[in-house]
Amino acid sequence: MPEQRANENWVKVNLGSGFPGLPGWLNYDNSPVMLAAKFPRLLKLAVRLRVLPPKWLEVKWPPIIRHDCRKGIPLADNSVDCVFTSHFLEHIRRPEAARVLKESFRVLKPGGRIRVVVPDVRKLIAIYQSGRVEPEYASPADEAVPFGPADWLSSQFGSGEVNVLRKLRLGDWLIYLRRHRWMYDRESMSLLLSHAGFVGIEERNPFQSALPDINKLDVHPRVSLYLEAQKPPLSGR
Ligand SMILES: C[S@@+](CC[C@H](N)C(=O)[O-])C[C@H]1O[C@@H](n2cnc3c(N)ncnc32)[C@H](O)[C@@H]1O
Repeated sequence: MPEQRANENWVKVNLGSGFPGLPGWLNYDNSPVMLAAKFPRLLKLAVRLRVLPPKWLEVKWPPIIRHDCRKGIPLADNSVDCVFTSHFLEHIRRPEAARVLKESFRVLKPGGRIRVVVPDVRKLIAIYQSGRVEPEYASPADEAVPFGPADWLSSQFGSGEVNVLRKLRLGDWLIYLRRHRWMYDRESMSLLLSHAGFVGIEERNPFQSALPDINKLDVHPRVSLYLEAQKPPLSGR
C-alpha cells in the first residue's frame, strides 16, 4: 500500500497507448483515430457516409497526446518514473524501435523502470504448431477466404495482400498501413534494451510488474513477451 501511494505522484508514460488511454498516464499515440476525435462533427459525418467504422465514434480527444513516438519523447531528461509500451514497437522499423528505447532511457529518472510488451515470436510459433488459432486471433475481417493457422502466422509477421476494390474504405487502409514491421523474441528485444543502456533486463509474467496499474495495462497475455528493465540508479543510491 505505501508503494501504491508513492506511485500516485509518479510521472508515467505509455507509448503507443491506443485508445482510450489510461487516466494518470501520459498516453502518446499518433493514430489518425485520435486526430479524427478532435473533429467530432466531421467524424460523425464520415461514419454516416461509411468512410470510417462506427467504433471511431468511441474515441475521445483527451487523455491521448497525439504524437509520433519515432520522433522522440517530448519530455525532459530524467523526468519520468516509468515507461510502459505494449504492442507498439513491432509496428515501427527496428532502428526506430531502438530510438524509442533510447529516448525512453533519456527521459527516465535514474532507477526508473521500463516495461516492454510485444508479440513473442516464440509464443506465436507455439500457437501455430499447436494448430489452435482461436477465432479472436484469426479475425481477417477483410479476407474472402477463411484463414488457416499458417495464414494467421503470416499475418502476424506483417505479410498480406490488399484487394484494392475491397479496401476503398479509409479505415481499412489505415489498418493495413499499421501492420507489423518487425517481430521480437526475448533475446532480440533484450539486445535493443541493453543497446539503449538499460540494465537488469528480466522477463516477467503477465500482470507481474513493478509498474502501477498493471492489471489495466496488460491486455494481450496469450501472445506477449513481457520484459522489464531499469535505467541504472545513481551510484550510492
Ligand atoms: C496494436 S495498437 C496497441 C495499443 C495498446 N498499447 C495495446 O497494447 O493494446 C498499436 C498502437 O501504436 C500506435 N502507433 C503506431 N505507430 C506509432 C507511432 N509512430 N507513434 C505513436 N503511436 C504509434 C497505433 O496508433 C496504435 O494505437
